[in-house]
Amino acid sequence: MIKNYDLKLFIKLSFDIMEKLMTTTLEDSYSIVCNVLGEALEWDYVEIWLRHPQRQTLYKSSIFYAANEIMSQFSNNSEDFEFAYGEGVPGKTWEAKKSIWYDDIRNIDYFIRKTDAEKIGLTTCFSLPIKAYDHVDAVLMFFNKEVKVEDELMLDLLNLVAARLGAIIVKSQIEEEIRDLKESSKTASSNTFLTIARVFSFRDPYTVSHQNLVTKLAIELARKLHLSDEEIHDIQIASMLHDIGKIGVPMEILSKPNKLSVEEFDLVKSHARIGANIVEDLPCSRNVKLMVLEHHERLDGSGYPDKKKGDQIYIGSQLIAVADVVSAMLENRPYRSALKLSEVKDELTKYSGIKYNQVIVGHTLEILDQIH
Ligand SMILES: [Fe+2]
Repeated sequence: MIKNYDLKLFIKLSFDIMEKLMTTTLEDSYSIVCNVLGEALEWDYVEIWLRHPQRQTLYKSSIFYAANEIMSQFSNNSEDFEFAYGEGVPGKTWEAKKSIWYDDIRNIDYFIRKTDAEKIGLTTCFSLPIKAYDHVDAVLMFFNKEVKVEDELMLDLLNLVAARLGAIIVKSQIEEEIRDLKESSKTASSNTFLTIARVFSFRDPYTVSHQNLVTKLAIELARKLHLSDEEIHDIQIASMLHDIGKIGVPMEILSKPNKLSVEEFDLVKSHARIGANIVEDLPCSRNVKLMVLEHHERLDGSGYPDKKKGDQIYIGSQLIAVADVVSAMLENRPYRSALKLSEVKDELTKYSGIKYNQVIVGHTLEILDQIH
């Protein structure tokens, strides 16, 4: 017969476990709980049954604690079991929604692994539900060869651990929901901006292919610069919307085959600020607005609308600037034919580090070499 535990040990153990469970993932938490509780409370074997989200059954997790080799065998022999609600010890615990203590598990009719338990000589079993809100999400099962007596302190500790595990499950479920929500809102916002960009493109036939090429090139460059997923998403939106301000520039100026007057060119240049004002009202990040505003700025201050220089220009804007210039040079325009690829490369090389970011130009030349 195992002696009752003392209060001091239990308080220390509670603190140790709670501290360990503070920053872990759900899977690690199960592993910590099985190992720490099994060892400290001197159970011979601890296992965990998890609720299958689709089949609505409890299946045995690969995580377990075994005091010795024989107990590990007990785990291997139960790998294929699955219990429905109210079925077997795990299912009964699920149904009861509270812990169940069995002085001798071998006498329990619904204990299916009786043969193995008898072979090993298991007696005491304690079954503990892990609840997230009021739903049983998992069942912890403790087994012992020697008869163990029910100990109030031990049960308090186990229930405390179960409550903490339940809170971790709720936390991970909430985190998963937030991740899904973020993902779906990201897709929804991308689709909205894509629609806006398409509507805008009906006005100017040059815009469709230009938007697509700038977006494709900008995303590839962003990946080469190892920007974060968030930044790449912003760059994608900004690439689609970068010229949206042209909606405020008369079509006869945009499609004019001859050289523009200074006044006309000033009107064309205003598209950067008009675009930033339009984007200001859309639900997108500050960086998207910045990229729309700055996509014609140049490192040497020769760009527009604010003649910003060097690091004053956001890296995403520097990237879209290069993608925009490359795309524009490769396309036919009302006032000139498309440039040859060699001419595009020469132009980029000539102004690398002067107008355009040297690293971005380097990556762009690599991409151009690959596709042609
Ligand atoms: Fe532009």
